[in-house]
Amino acid sequence: MELTAVAKLEAMYTELCRGKDGQYQSVGMWPYLPVLRALVGQTRAQQVIELGVRSGGSTTAFLLSLMETGGQLWSCDLDILWPPINKLKPALHQDHPKLWTFVQGDTTELALEGSPPTSCDVLLVDAAFEKRYIDLIHYGLRVRPGGFILVHDTNREDAVREQVERYLALSWPAVHCRKSYLSGNKGLAVVSVL
Ligand SMILES: C[S@@+](CC[C@H](N)C(=O)[O-])C[C@H]1O[C@@H](n2cnc3c(N)ncnc32)[C@H](O)[C@@H]1O
Repeated sequence: MELTAVAKLEAMYTELCRGKDGQYQSVGMWPYLPVLRALVGQTRAQQVIELGVRSGGSTTAFLLSLMETGGQLWSCDLDILWPPINKLKPALHQDHPKLWTFVQGDTTELALEGSPPTSCDVLLVDAAFEKRYIDLIHYGLRVRPGGFILVHDTNREDAVREQVERYLALSWPAVHCRKSYLSGNKGLAVVSVL
């Protein structure tokens, strides 16, 4: 019996969550996948924006939760999609044509062209390390009150956390957001927009 695209996606997610012990060792987002999935469900998200896809760790978590909320994912990456998500995309698109839009391109150029959705419930910033601040400038204010801004790699030495802090100081006075930094592996900033 052939598995449906959703069943394959769920199997992929389970494998991704195994991290280093699983078959997809390159996905650094693995410790946070349950958090991504839960936040989409918690906000009953109708729109998620994802900057940086590569092999689809975060994408898998978002898609599974969005199928339950009836929402949509808009993703972009400079590169083409990598395995394993590239293999699943055609079947997923056939069964759920509006669920996922992937655009190949630079985060800044796409924002300036007006390609991404103007508002969202959850934003993940996980493209170029050195562009976290500029990506936040272009995409951060699209997050609706009650939503979340997520920034990966805040444990890295090349000042990702400083870029988050600089952005929050500029755009979100403390009264309008609440932030926490998840430890483990590469780090994830979770900013709750009030
Ligand atoms: C760490 S990976 C994303 C991982 C993915 N979120 C996950 O959970 O598996 C970072 C991705 O950002 C992409 N990227 C780098 N610079 C970019 C840019 N300026 N615009 C769009 N994507 C970019 C890279 O091609 C790469 O695939």
